[in-house]
Amino acid sequence: MRVLGAPQGAISARAPGKINLILRVGPLREDGFHELLTCFQAVEMWETITVWPAATDTVSIAGDAVAGEVPLDASNIAVRAARAIGDKIGRDDGVHVHIDKKVPVGGGMAGGSADAAATLLAINELWGAGLTREELSEIAASLGSDVPFLLEGGTAIAYGRGEILEPVRSLPLHWVIVPSASHLSTPEGYRLLDIQREGFDVSLPEDVLATFLNALYHGDPVALTPHLRNDMTPAAIALVPEVASTLELGIHVGALAAMVSGSGPTCAFLAQDRDHAHALATRTRERGRHARVVSSPARGAHLVS
Ligand code: C5P
Repeated sequence: MRVLGAPQGAISARAPGKINLILRVGPLREDGFHELLTCFQAVEMWETITVWPAATDTVSIAGDAVAGEVPLDASNIAVRAARAIGDKIGRDDGVHVHIDKKVPVGGGMAGGSADAAATLLAINELWGAGLTREELSEIAASLGSDVPFLLEGGTAIAYGRGEILEPVRSLPLHWVIVPSASHLSTPEGYRLLDIQREGFDVSLPEDVLATFLNALYHGDPVALTPHLRNDMTPAAIALVPEVASTLELGIHVGALAAMVSGSGPTCAFLAQDRDHAHALATRTRERGRHARVVSSPARGAHLVS
């Protein structure tokens, strides 16, 4: 991995984006998070991070981000990840974090969380911190609910606020990812959902169904389809009305299912297989929308040389 301007000894790592095959949102907890029952699946769409020593903490961005979309100062979650390792091991050296962005910003695919996960690995290596996977996972949970999953990757059922992970097996699935020009703030999505559901029973099921796990295990997209569900959908549509037409478009072009990714507004269309995914993407582009074919599951964050 060679990044323009990166000195010898710079360290690169990458982490995938994710979609939620099931996202059940339970009650609001006292700590401000919602209890979740979700199935994360990492997709082959990568954020690549390169870190090197610098006088002060700085960030640069390349790839698919538009200028101004992502903070370039210490508030960037990647810098916060570096600082969290510094706090743990007692180091306060500055770092430069270069982010090559491929996961849509503010789209519900955890691009920022992927940046944090990759940065944890890269900084652990750069500083020779020697933190274990468990220690990194603990720091990851302090940075965001999705960050522990992006360290692990693959497919996992998640509980709590999304940080308690139970890995499950899945054969490959094929998707078309349709980003939106709009961004959605996750807290805003949850806030609106609470208002929309006021007075309703929002208790969570105990667990996902065995038939769902079986469909994943066999990589059977047809059997998977009736299980896909995202409780954030009404909030995402209310905040970004285009989401409704994107979901309709998915069904119209022949997807097995169309769903909102995480809190949205990015949508994911489920295909029968890779060829079907390419056909769906072509039809989606013909209707003027961006479309990316991806497969899943993808591995978690890892160093790249
Ligand atoms: O953990 P993360 O930083 O991704 O969460 C961002 C915001 O999303 C939280 O501050 C909270 O408002 C909302 N959230 C939630 N319940 C979760 C995860 C996130 O309400 N389980």
